[in-house]
Amino acid sequence: RLRSVVRGCGSYLPRTIVTNDDLAARVETSDDWIIQRTGIRQRHIAEPDETTSVLGIKAAERALRDADIDPATIDLVICATSTPDHTFPSTATQIQGGLGIRTGAAFDLQAVCAGFVYAVATADKFLTTGAATRALVVGAETFSRLLDWEDRTTCVLFGDGAGALVLEAQAGEGLPSDRGVLTSQLRADGRHREKLYVDGGPGSTGTTGKLRMVGKEVFRFAVGSVTDVVAQAFEATGTTADDLDWFVPHQANRRIIEASADKLGIAREKVVLTVDRHGNTSAASIPLALDAACRDGRIKTGDLVMIEAIGGGFTWGSALIRW
Ligand code: ACO
Repeated sequence: RLRSVVRGCGSYLPRTIVTNDDLAARVETSDDWIIQRTGIRQRHIAEPDETTSVLGIKAAERALRDADIDPATIDLVICATSTPDHTFPSTATQIQGGLGIRTGAAFDLQAVCAGFVYAVATADKFLTTGAATRALVVGAETFSRLLDWEDRTTCVLFGDGAGALVLEAQAGEGLPSDRGVLTSQLRADGRHREKLYVDGGPGSTGTTGKLRMVGKEVFRFAVGSVTDVVAQAFEATGTTADDLDWFVPHQANRRIIEASADKLGIAREKVVLTVDRHGNTSAASIPLALDAACRDGRIKTGDLVMIEAIGGGFTWGSALIRW
């Protein structure tokens, strides 16, 4: 049986940091309010030359170096993003081209903040069916370009960045102790469109549009839905919260993350938190957090790592990975 095994990871953040105090100079907000309600202290914001594909290429280069493999051996590139450089061609093809990869498949995947979990699940299907052998899975976003910078209820929440994983098909026994993606659980419920959406696009206004969100409604839905898919991932693999080494949730809000961990019985010290430094980087937040925890020595080979996210749609999901 084939398993999708993590060979390497990498991430990249834009050079400009914007603090809560910087935002308080533009809209009526405060460092205290933002920290208390979200846990966010700062976020990185892309300069005009730092497009989503530029960030994605830099993160991917680092992941490929970490994996110590020749980029030419990658035969699948998936980029999870809701902020592509252009409507088409896909950001994935721009990343593929930027890395000098000339063969295999490349496409974007759009599930907003759940995009990276969806992309890992999709790459896993390609790898475990033998349709691809080495996949580069990127989450890259420049949400700063979708923000209404006059709207304090949304502009304080988001940041820009990119992260990437290299996954490789390897033979395994099909046991929870084997390295690789053990399960993925994906869900969607399109009835919730009005709670989190962008008010533009080629089929509506013909402009890019701005992000609109009913924060309280998203919050209310988030905890219940993510704890369900995480519990289903434990159930599918015969594992429990005690077996878990690291919980790496989508980084939208510290309160959502801690409420979810508590409800699942996951100890707070197993939770990887980067929302304080990165803000909500949508599909990039999980690979950014994974890379941070790998770089500082927390996540090691053999560790059991749960990722989960919820995003616009709503879309949500989880994946359990033996690192
Ligand atoms: N600074 C100061 N005051 C603010 C700000 C701000 N930046 N934003 C809102 N307020 C005010 C509101 O106007 C309101 O004032 P009022 O009581 O006078 O009306 C008050 O603060 C409370 O606002 P609420 O919206 O009730 O605050 P809440 O505690 O719900 O926190 C927040 C808001 C942080 C947005 C929270 O609801 C949240 O995190 N929701 C989830 C959002 C999320 O995770 N979204 C991402 C999903 S992923 C994706 O797909 C993009």
